[in-house]
Amino acid sequence: MSEIIKRLPFFYDITLRDGNQSLKKPWNTIEKEIIFNHLAELGVQGVEAGFAAASEMDFEACSRLSQIAPDNIVISALARCVKNDIEKAAEAVKSAKKRRIHTFIAMSPFNMEYVLNKSPQEIRKQAIEAVSFAKNLIGSGGEVQFSVEHFGDCNENIDFVIESLKEIVKAGASIINLPNTVERTRPSIFVQMVEKVYNALPKDITISVHNHNDLGMATATTVESYFKGAVQLECALNGLGERAGNTNMYEVAVALHNAGIDVPLNLSKIYETALVISDMSNVKIYEKAPLIGPEALAHRSGIHQDGAIKTKDMEKGAYRPIHPSLIGRKDDEKFAFTSQSGKTAIFEIITEAGYPITLGEAQRITPFAKEAAEKIGELSTRNIIDIYYQNVLNIKGAFKFIDIEKLPDEQIRLKFNYNSKEFNVISKGNGPIDQCIKAIQKSGFNAEFINYEQKALNMGSDAVGMTIMYFKAPNGKTIISRGCDENTFIANIKAIFNGLNIIENEKEHL
Ligand code: KIV
Ligand code: ZN
Repeated sequence: MSEIIKRLPFFYDITLRDGNQSLKKPWNTIEKEIIFNHLAELGVQGVEAGFAAASEMDFEACSRLSQIAPDNIVISALARCVKNDIEKAAEAVKSAKKRRIHTFIAMSPFNMEYVLNKSPQEIRKQAIEAVSFAKNLIGSGGEVQFSVEHFGDCNENIDFVIESLKEIVKAGASIINLPNTVERTRPSIFVQMVEKVYNALPKDITISVHNHNDLGMATATTVESYFKGAVQLECALNGLGERAGNTNMYEVAVALHNAGIDVPLNLSKIYETALVISDMSNVKIYEKAPLIGPEALAHRSGIHQDGAIKTKDMEKGAYRPIHPSLIGRKDDEKFAFTSQSGKTAIFEIITEAGYPITLGEAQRITPFAKEAAEKIGELSTRNIIDIYYQNVLNIKGAFKFIDIEKLPDEQIRLKFNYNSKEFNVISKGNGPIDQCIKAIQKSGFNAEFINYEQKALNMGSDAVGMTIMYFKAPNGKTIISRGCDENTFIANIKAIFNGLNIIENEKEHL
């Protein structure tokens, strides 16, 4: 392993600061404390508690979190490179064992000129003075992080930035954070810039990245920055943050895990945390959100469904990036049915709903489901159960049962229709199934019965009996049919007539 990736990634959470500042209703101290406890359970190494000078509420929250923080979690407060902000930040984090002041200023040519209206030399001086001031206030027990705001827009003046950072480090900053503030730079250029900074600064300095997701590449940039020397990864729960958000912590953690990196987080807490954060932020998890979205584990195409079912219990699934249990998801891979889907989805959905079915039966009823899906789009579980009832339990066809009467001496009288012609036959046999089959054979039909089973089932709220019959089709294929009823005798009859109709309806193929 290279020198660079020997160090464990350091997850520095910014949900309570960057995430919070983008909320329609920012969190109060109590809410921040609840989220902080989730962060502690997740195992993050650092938490930015807020922007202490922004409001009384944020100051109070930073103070509270620094009081309750366990000794192994770094607590920081954000401050512009101005005296008052830095004093507020120092005061707010003073109770934390691992405390940090995080100060920042923009160094991109565009921002220095048009937003800050200062020359690069003035900016450099302000940054150095701010860091030195912060270092004095925080004392030897604390640390100072400096962020080059808009670092992603600093490719043209990267030499100026690096020279400034060398002095900023001398002034007391031990963590240098490099934000892609509005994702101005694509991942491969950004990581080259990160690498330049990493190579230029002393090796005891922690390089950090803070990527916004304006163009949807923040996870890639953060993950690849780690491999170029950035150890501290600033991420937010559920990807919350200004505009399109910050780097999503779950995606970075899982991507590094999948790359074989030892990720010091309790990954199994991810899903539960995501649901809590969505609820508390009022920001819905969008359907297709990687890992945590309701659709993130859904398969609709027949090919994907087939691969997914064949690898369902394996750690590496054919069509998923992780086993859902890695992030504490219990809802497993979802099989939905559209006109693109196949028998696997039918099998999974019916089985999941608690009804018995074989893959062969699923294959047989798939054309009915496809026909319905072509008309109405994705089928609900209810739709599929209805198709199951119509095509497995109550199959319509040429054979129609009318009545059966038990007679003395192991005999029965069976009345049924075949294509509207009525048959009324007496037959003798060994038990009701044998008697009934013999009556059908006696009427001139070739019903080759092989075997049967009976089961008690809970279908919906009712306990019912199910008879499963095995017939031999004219081409030698075994056909399974089912009959369901509270009365076992009727369940047998239904299974027989369903079997006869399956063979009749498919006689061209059998
Ligand atoms: O996006 C950004 O540049 C920031 C800094 C304050 C770190 O949030
Ligand atoms: Zn930010």
